Amino acid sequence: MAKIKKTYFCQNCGAQSPQWVGKCPSCAEWNTFVEEIVSKNEKKLFSTGPATKRISKPIAIGEVSDEKHNRIIFKDSELNRVLGGGLVHGSLVLFGGEPGIGKSTLMLQMALQHSKARVLYVSGEESMKQVKMRADRIGQTSENCFLLNETKLQHIFSHIDEFQPHILIIDSIQTLHSEYLDSSPGSISQIRECTGDLMKFAKETQTSVFIIGHITKDGSIAGPKVLEHMVDTVLQFEGDRNHIYRLLRTTKNRFGSTNELGIYEMQTGGLLPVLNPSDVLLNNNDEALSGVAIASTMEGMRPMLVEVQALVSTAAYGNPQRTTTGFDTKRLNMLLAVLEKRCGFKLGAKDVFLNITGGIRVNDPAIDLAVVSAVLSSNVDLPVSKEIALAGEVGLTGEIRPVSHIDQRITEAQKLGFEKMIVSKYNKGVKQSDFDIELIQVGKIEEVFRHLFGSE
Ligand code: TYD
Ligand code: MG
Repeated sequence: MAKIKKTYFCQNCGAQSPQWVGKCPSCAEWNTFVEEIVSKNEKKLFSTGPATKRISKPIAIGEVSDEKHNRIIFKDSELNRVLGGGLVHGSLVLFGGEPGIGKSTLMLQMALQHSKARVLYVSGEESMKQVKMRADRIGQTSENCFLLNETKLQHIFSHIDEFQPHILIIDSIQTLHSEYLDSSPGSISQIRECTGDLMKFAKETQTSVFIIGHITKDGSIAGPKVLEHMVDTVLQFEGDRNHIYRLLRTTKNRFGSTNELGIYEMQTGGLLPVLNPSDVLLNNNDEALSGVAIASTMEGMRPMLVEVQALVSTAAYGNPQRTTTGFDTKRLNMLLAVLEKRCGFKLGAKDVFLNITGGIRVNDPAIDLAVVSAVLSSNVDLPVSKEIALAGEVGLTGEIRPVSHIDQRITEAQKLGFEKMIVSKYNKGVKQSDFDIELIQVGKIEEVFRHLFGSE
């Protein structure tokens, strides 16, 4: 094998070092150094095929073919939606999610449903028998879906040369390795190298490639954003393994919007698209209960609606308790103080329990308004209408402050079927005419109270 020169690069600032170091001398970040190839000799990729001999030429912009004709449309409407209206030829899609969430199931299902395109499903994780068993479970079969059990990238490319699929699925990138690198499969340098080669392959042969990637506990796909900037589209599959609903989100898309959300139901026969998501996520409980408010929050770049529950009761023993799950207790204390001072609610002698349902933790200040509403609702024992979503930060003077990405929050609430949304009137550029949902723009906490519980 040819001699390969390697160097270590900091993934944070790009500093270079001939050997691995724990702490970057330049930006002082820890564990950011990763081995990379500087020169690769005799590297042959999929270069045996005719496709790579194509050299790109300048084309007038008007002559570039229209993208619309270039998409593969699936039967699965949710998948089409998150991809921005179908899969673009030659695009590289990274499909991330926790182990066991249903990534392989969705990809296989897609391959089986779309019988027109030739699909090659490369599985490095499971044997062909296992994949076949899953296909039987899904209950579909297709003459155009082919399986390959292989983990070496160069071997995969040599198969592709003969086979020429329209869609290639790699399950998963963590099992793949390139023979030009010594590091073990799943290491950052292998993942980068393989993804880079797959990207080149996709662009040069106009084959669409899906790469399945497991995500780490903190939610990133295999290392610090290593892959996300390389690929065209990033899809994330989320949900609780013990529940039946799964959310498919676009976190990056060069060919469409990133605000898209697809919802599936995991059933015994595969994943079923949920066509009416508001039924699923919001009408779990038909009864109007006090102490519940819905917040439109953002997680990174992703809008998400969460339910905030509060219970306010008279403190049984002198010292009132403040207990929170998924929310900062100090922030709750501050909000209670604001309510006491600005609205005259005597909460000082009450126990307050606060819970963000779904077991998630929210740090987004826009949840304040829902927290305050849930507390007030429990305190006066009047329910907040289930048709209302809220997003706003509460300031110390009781003013409702504007929050970031308000358009996305409103769009998400609208998408999930809410009729009204309470937002800050100080959010610049929010126009009712842009949205179907009724916007209630408020400036003070008292106004929120009036809107929620009538004039008191
Ligand atoms: P899988 O696609 O193997 O997850 P991943 O590739 O993300 O690791 O899905 C695993 C889970 O899905 C497994 O717990 C069984 C469940 N499942 C169903 O409930 N119904 C089905 O029809 C299939 C195929 C799987
Ligand atoms: Mg899998």
